[in-house]
Amino acid sequence: MEEKRTAWRFFKPWRFSTDEATVRKAMLNVAGLAPAVVITGGSRGIGLALAQRFLEGGHRVVIVARNAVRLDEAARELGAATGSEVVTVVCDVAEPNAFDVISADVKRAGLYLDVLVNNAGFGLAGTYVGHSDVDLSRLLAINVEALTRLTRAALPDMLARARGGVMNVASLGACVPGPNQAAYYASKAYVVSLTEAIASEVSGMGVRVSALLPGPIDTAFHEEMGAGRSLYRYVLPPMSAKSVARSAYRGFLFGNRVIVPGLSNSFFFLALKILPHAITVPMMYWLLRRPDNLRDT
Ligand SMILES: NC(=O)c1ccc[n+]([C@@H]2O[C@H](COP(=O)([O-])OP(=O)(O)OC[C@H]3O[C@@H](n4cnc5c(N)ncnc54)[C@H](OP(=O)(O)O)[C@@H]3O)[C@@H](O)[C@H]2O)c1
Repeated sequence: MEEKRTAWRFFKPWRFSTDEATVRKAMLNVAGLAPAVVITGGSRGIGLALAQRFLEGGHRVVIVARNAVRLDEAARELGAATGSEVVTVVCDVAEPNAFDVISADVKRAGLYLDVLVNNAGFGLAGTYVGHSDVDLSRLLAINVEALTRLTRAALPDMLARARGGVMNVASLGACVPGPNQAAYYASKAYVVSLTEAIASEVSGMGVRVSALLPGPIDTAFHEEMGAGRSLYRYVLPPMSAKSVARSAYRGFLFGNRVIVPGLSNSFFFLALKILPHAITVPMMYWLLRRPDNLRDT
């Protein structure tokens, strides 16, 4: 009988479900393999701290980055700190075949991708018109395209197995436009929007999907993006990568869709949600500006 075309249809309990053949295939694919947490950008900064936290929690960990030497150093450091072996994958996540490269290496190590942490990121500081086309493309390729593609590639098997999850590393900057880091802030807003929407779509299906929104953290990221001398570096106290990783791990295990590490960042998060952009955007302009792009000098 044809279903009545009424608005009532939308209130019926509904979930997209994985058919039996797909579930069987997903289970067979991982037969004899052990679950692993795969962390992109795991060779330093937040990724390295997250790797350590997941290892301490008893998980097997795979770290992904481009620089092989630093990656091996990180694996040794993690091994010494936790007594666990860490698998490394040399890969640029911006490459279109990144998921295949990572999956193949993970499988060779006797593991399968159970939790994906999209942490690798690219920052750009300075005025928007001052950014080169190459840098803007790189930012979109890493912060937006790679994260979108990897999440899309990893989720179906996680859903079929009804376990695992994705943690996407965004930023507190996702909550407000960021003049003088405009494209970076916009890319992180995309990450949070995408992640919260997916989390809603897969809710109740055994897969965790979380966005991590840290405030400033003491890593090389700021210097590398050219924000080392921006005002916020002097006035906003940074958190350590270790304490961010602790909050992130706890929030992820609790299944929180949005994880904001630290008390003061939770306060800023609320303030940014409540205050109008007429107040917050000029404030961000001051915090993010660099001595070389002061309009009044
Ligand atoms: N630091 C902060 O204050 C802060 C605040 C909020 C959010 N975040 C976000 O947190 C994440 C990590 O930041 P972080 O401060 O830990 O950065 P970081 O110290 O600069 O580390 C970045 C890591 O990502 C790897 N990486 C960069 N590009 C990559 C690529 N294309 N493919 C694979 N790996 C790549 C780097 O290794 P290789 O160079 O060897 O590839 C490194 O392991 C980023 O998404 C950032 O936007 C940072």
